[in-house]
Amino acid sequence: MDVMNETEKQYPFLMACHRKATKYTPIWLMRQAGRYMKEYRALRRRFSFLEMCKNPELAAKVTLMPVEQLKVDAAIIFADILLPLEPMGIEFEFAKNEGPVFRHPIREMKQIEALRIIEPKEDLSFLMDAIRIVRRELGNKIPLIGFSGAPFTLASYIIEGGHSKNYILTKGLMYQDRVAWNSLMEKISEVLIRYLNAQIHAGAQALQLFDSWVGCLSPIDYEEYVLPYSKKVIEGVEKSVPLIHFATSSSTLLERMKRAGGDVIGVDWRVDLREAWARLGYDVAIQGNLDPVILLGPVNLIEREAKRILEGAEGRPGHIFNLGHGILPTTPVDHVVALVEAVHRFSLR
Ligand code: CP3
Repeated sequence: MDVMNETEKQYPFLMACHRKATKYTPIWLMRQAGRYMKEYRALRRRFSFLEMCKNPELAAKVTLMPVEQLKVDAAIIFADILLPLEPMGIEFEFAKNEGPVFRHPIREMKQIEALRIIEPKEDLSFLMDAIRIVRRELGNKIPLIGFSGAPFTLASYIIEGGHSKNYILTKGLMYQDRVAWNSLMEKISEVLIRYLNAQIHAGAQALQLFDSWVGCLSPIDYEEYVLPYSKKVIEGVEKSVPLIHFATSSSTLLERMKRAGGDVIGVDWRVDLREAWARLGYDVAIQGNLDPVILLGPVNLIEREAKRILEGAEGRPGHIFNLGHGILPTTPVDHVVALVEAVHRFSLR
């Protein structure tokens, strides 16, 4: 079935998601809008991160910042995986230099029962408005990606109360209270299906599901405690747009992630892209996988590593170039420009 219309066929990024041949390998970068850009830092002096997310004009402006400067092949809406948690009844804040902090982590059944299933169009109208503004501003230039966290990664934040090293509390609930774990994962999954579909309705042309921390699990535990929920979310999302299923430290989980679903599997630098794609099979597209630290330079190293990754993909349709994780705040902007240019130049067919 050909789900793409004529305009979409002009976009190398969407073509690659569908494993169709493109004139060059498309590239976008996780965290392409962020603190490594001086225009972003200037705005952040006036507004908090959450204020920026909740103001559609500002969120749209930040989304578009890297588009002209970097010449990337897709934009990603400026938001955060934690945004749907607030309307669920989970409060958090971004403490200075600490990342997210949750005042009341969710660890018991009665808290899970109290969590609200959100109505994204109303509860997160600011995000839907931001998506509409960006689509209008972009015209037919490049497509816009929407996103969410995956059930496990979101569960880990709300159970731990923030970022974690060993995920002891998350795994604790998983191993010791199966009923509570299942109902939490069930609720998060339901919220994510609504959240992602609302982004499609607002104008998102592709989606990425971030399972950033799922690599802390054994393959068997992934299969038992996580895969059914990631699968449920992916199956619950409308098929009108492609979905990228991304995780880090996931080299032992790749085959199972593919079973959970996604048109594209996102991999980090801890796997060799050539080997990862051979294991996944060529009936799925792949995204990745430059180590973000390489972007610190020098430029000849960036070019060499970009070339190595492109060679690993062997010119096969269905490779989307990206980093293995987000751009680091200390990255020089001209290095990012050089990477995008190099990927386009080396892959031109
Ligand atoms: O990729 C993009 O450009 C879109 C924007 C985006 C942000 N967060 C903006 C952001 C995306 C896709 C995310 C996803 C996200 N958020 C993830 C999954 C991706 C990943 O990194 O694994 C996670 C785990 C989060 C949660 C989160 N948000 C953390 C842990 C932090 C603090 C750490 C940090 O880098 O400061 C954030 C804050 C955040 N999200 C910032 C940005 C630009 C920094 C805010 C600031 O201080 O300006």
